[in-house]
Amino acid sequence: QASERESMLLVSEFARDFFQECLWESESGKAIGLTYFKERGFSEDTIREFGLGYNPDQWSAFTDAALEKGYQLEFLEKTGLTIVKPAADPAQPPRKFDRFKGRVLFPIQSMSGRVLGFGGRTLSSEKKVAKYLNSPESEIYHKSKVLYGIYHAKKAIAREDVCYLVEGYTDVIQLYQSGIENVVASSGTALTPEQIRLIRRLTVNVVVLFDGDAAGLRASLRGIDLILEEGLNVRVCTFPAGEDPDSFARSHSRDAIEAYLKENSRDFIQFKTALLTEEAANDPIRRAETIRDIVSSIARIPDRIKREVYVQECASLMGISEEVLFNTLAQMTRKAQ
Ligand code: CTP
Ligand code: MN
Ligand code: MN
Ligand code: MN
Ligand code: MN
Repeated sequence: QASERESMLLVSEFARDFFQECLWESESGKAIGLTYFKERGFSEDTIREFGLGYNPDQWSAFTDAALEKGYQLEFLEKTGLTIVKPAADPAQPPRKFDRFKGRVLFPIQSMSGRVLGFGGRTLSSEKKVAKYLNSPESEIYHKSKVLYGIYHAKKAIAREDVCYLVEGYTDVIQLYQSGIENVVASSGTALTPEQIRLIRRLTVNVVVLFDGDAAGLRASLRGIDLILEEGLNVRVCTFPAGEDPDSFARSHSRDAIEAYLKENSRDFIQFKTALLTEEAANDPIRRAETIRDIVSSIARIPDRIKREVYVQECASLMGISEEVLFNTLAQMTRKAQ
């Protein structure tokens, strides 16, 4: 008898196959799901490569098929693929619904390729419908420990010795299709130490690619401190307003994308220093806060020599003495120990 974990993985793999079959073989899948992916610029090879699928827009098409095949309701529920609700009339059996009804699906795979969960995108443009619905936390799916695309990217990350980190599923897929395969997504959340350690098994160099919507950028700065803390070298690259790596990659050749990344990636500490210094402008109190903020990022870097180089660099960028920065740094690292 398979363990609970293994049973959940098997159900998830059946689901991936079922959703793929619906996408490629059913009338609604072809008309709605496949058309959607093709309109986004994904080739048939790419759609197959990432195992993209479609869950029919019926209450329980997937659940019925899985039960029919002998998969147990317990595991369908534990993976979140099926939602079980008690009937209004307690004499009736509970009702079963497909969580991803009517959505196109992005299977989320482990480093070794097992299917751990799904991201499901709505095809409706109604604002009140969540754009993405993801698998719930479970024995196999821990949101904080997975990186979307790691299975497809791992070889290229090791080979190129750098990992591009993007926000979304479609950013990973579009860049991969463009020939930039060393890319993974945090799936819209702040990066966690577990995710960073997954990357660190393959490279110590990360380039964070931000969507061109300034809102996310300030919020993300803190998350990046975590990457520094794990000893990785971090560069950042922003995209023009309204663009994300997906839309940019779709409208540019591989050479143009590579050139853009090369020209627009900057060392994270330099980037943050320039951004905050500009914001604080001539306001002395904000300038003081900015200095502390930047030094607190530098204080995260485990390598002492790198810390010193950054202090020198930032002192000159901000036009203040190295001594002041070194003193602040010394206070912060003392506190941290
Ligand atoms: N996300 C999520 N739930 C949402 C919105 C976003 O889980 N309601 C996650 C998804 O993993 C998504 C990522 O955050 O891929 C980035 O969000 P966003 O930039 O809004 O979406 P895109 O990936 O650009 O998706 P699309 O191009 O399909 O609009
Ligand atoms: Mn667990
Ligand atoms: Mn975004
Ligand atoms: Mn986006
Ligand atoms: Mn997008």
